[in-house]
Amino acid sequence: MYSLGNNIKFHLFGKSHGEHVGCILENVPPGIRISADLIKEEMDLRKPRDGIGTPRKEDDNVEIASGMPDGITDGSPIKMTIANKNIKSSAYEDISTVPRPGHADLPAMIRWKDHDVRGGGQFSGRLTAPIVAAGSIAKQMLSPMGIKIAAFTRSVGRIDDDRIRTMDDALLSRKYATRACSSELDEMMTAEIINASKDGDSVGGIAECIVNGLPIGFGGIWFESLDAVLAKAVFGIPAVKGIEFGKGFDITRMKGSESNDQYHIDNGIKAMTNNMGGIVGGMSNGMPLVFRTAFKPTPSISKEQRSVDLSTMKDAVISIKGRHDPCVVPRAVSVVEAVTALVIADVSMNGAI
Ligand SMILES: Cc1cc2nc3c(=O)[nH]c(=O)nc-3n(C[C@H](O)[C@H](O)[C@H](O)COP(=O)(O)O)c2cc1C
Repeated sequence: MYSLGNNIKFHLFGKSHGEHVGCILENVPPGIRISADLIKEEMDLRKPRDGIGTPRKEDDNVEIASGMPDGITDGSPIKMTIANKNIKSSAYEDISTVPRPGHADLPAMIRWKDHDVRGGGQFSGRLTAPIVAAGSIAKQMLSPMGIKIAAFTRSVGRIDDDRIRTMDDALLSRKYATRACSSELDEMMTAEIINASKDGDSVGGIAECIVNGLPIGFGGIWFESLDAVLAKAVFGIPAVKGIEFGKGFDITRMKGSESNDQYHIDNGIKAMTNNMGGIVGGMSNGMPLVFRTAFKPTPSISKEQRSVDLSTMKDAVISIKGRHDPCVVPRAVSVVEAVTALVIADVSMNGAI
């Protein structure tokens, strides 16, 4: 199992073409009422929508096997499974010995001689389904504490959203298949994805996440810094290539007098800007936590690319069939939200709240 967290521990298991994927969530406090409807809402947002995601359609019903009798947490481990029903393994027959450039195939095939490459095996985006289910439980645990988490698509390929965005914008993005914040951006991002796909290609992009309601001092220090633990968890999501908080790398071009978020009294202590993305010294400064996650273009593309055949040790040319997302960002937005919720719920048990 693949695990995350110190207090609330999340364990992930399964494979793309196995019987099911699933997770175990340990140490969720007892007595929290969990809405199955809210879990389903989050699961639906992760599904491919409006022709811009993989043609693999799964109903993604979450089976809760333990830990929540009558929908209320009882403090024991919560086990959830999601069946893999729509499996087509034939597309992987041709490429079973030819690793896909950009995917995990090469290191996985060399390391494990019997690696199951079908659907990406344990590296598949399919394993993000249980993450989203567990993230919904974490969100429902955090909601009574006044903590709200939402993400949206900041860019797809060359289409950028250059406006300042708030929690309301991020929540509005749930309406749109691309998870953009407006219908105009949704149309432009959709066209960018469809054009790449028609060309046998794929595009990447950026998801931005906002967390409201963290009290000043929430987090940890050194290797338990809130940005450190979030970055570690977010990098666990497949296809992530970067993360930046607040102004991110652009902060290097500012002077200290410009980058420092100065304080004033405004209904309590408030920072006047949010260049740090809400974190100083590994802890919340009371401003919204804001970070962006960079996703690479989907590795599996039908355009011909060079690879090697591991059975003959000769050069080979590969064109990937199968069913793939031409851009992972629209679906990954809910995964970023879920991973963030799991981390914040875990850290909330440290006594910061
Ligand atoms: C929600 C989601 C869906 C994904 N769908 C696909 C896909 O359809 N095809 C593909 O090749 N990769 C897909 N990926 C990306 C691969 O899983 C990932 O690139 C691969 O496991 C290699 O890991 P790395 O990119 O982190 O190095 C997806 C990722 C996410 C988060």
